[in-house]
Amino acid sequence: MRIPMMAGNWKMNCDNPAAVELAKGIVEGSANALGCEVIVCPPFTALSAVNDVTKDSPVSLGGQNFFWKADGAFTGEIAADMLLCCGCEYVIIGHSERRGRFGATDEDFAEELQSVFGDNDATVSIKLKAAVDAGLKPIACCGELLSEREKGMTDAIVSDQVRAMLDGCSEEQLHSVTIAYEPVWAIGTGEVCEADEANRVCGLIRAVVAEVAGQETADNMRILYGGSVKPDNVEGLMAQAEIDGGLVGGASLKADSFCTLIEVAGRAKRA
Ligand code: PGA
Repeated sequence: MRIPMMAGNWKMNCDNPAAVELAKGIVEGSANALGCEVIVCPPFTALSAVNDVTKDSPVSLGGQNFFWKADGAFTGEIAADMLLCCGCEYVIIGHSERRGRFGATDEDFAEELQSVFGDNDATVSIKLKAAVDAGLKPIACCGELLSEREKGMTDAIVSDQVRAMLDGCSEEQLHSVTIAYEPVWAIGTGEVCEADEANRVCGLIRAVVAEVAGQETADNMRILYGGSVKPDNVEGLMAQAEIDGGLVGGASLKADSFCTLIEVAGRAKRA
């Protein structure tokens, strides 16, 4: 049985006092939530402060990104060991914002600025293996742009991204991997993917994992949906068989809304 997961991606929000406050609210508000693994991913600068709040609780800590080298002249980058030192158990990899694949809310970005963050299928694949080997559990993201969906390319884009990220992974390395399906057009836009369509694409991802790494690995792997998950749409999403939880941006920045998502995911999957 797959244990559901709610992961809060705080993105570039929360200075340290705000991060500590939010973490305290989530620890308290999720204390009685049964059967759902809870992860918070604050900005790097707040990891240690948040770890002081979460370390004796069931809430786990994750980084939002890392670089695969152990150390060296890589200005501005963060190594896996540095995340582990701050108390991280998880790390998000290949988020569409890191791949420079911004959604509809960012049309005000000049085109040449849209790709300033450099992840692509090749770096995500390297990061996935490096994270696992370092002892971090990756949450690896995939998802299509609106223009790709409109051209009927969703399945091809998502399958290719998943095949690329899993390329060269042993079955053992895949045990600690979670995949998040995040259609780029649904991120931060309030436009959620219909639950049955999100379920269909998560099922497609599971089929690709089965093809690459066998049915058992696929059956055990958690596949999350992300993109405008909110208290008012989470029931429908969590009722879907292929969706094992959520990767949540906006609604993870308020303890009460995030705790509602945690509660619903735990309840839906116990039922
Ligand atoms: P959102 O972000 O919940 O604000 O749409 C999700 C994500 O980017 O992981």
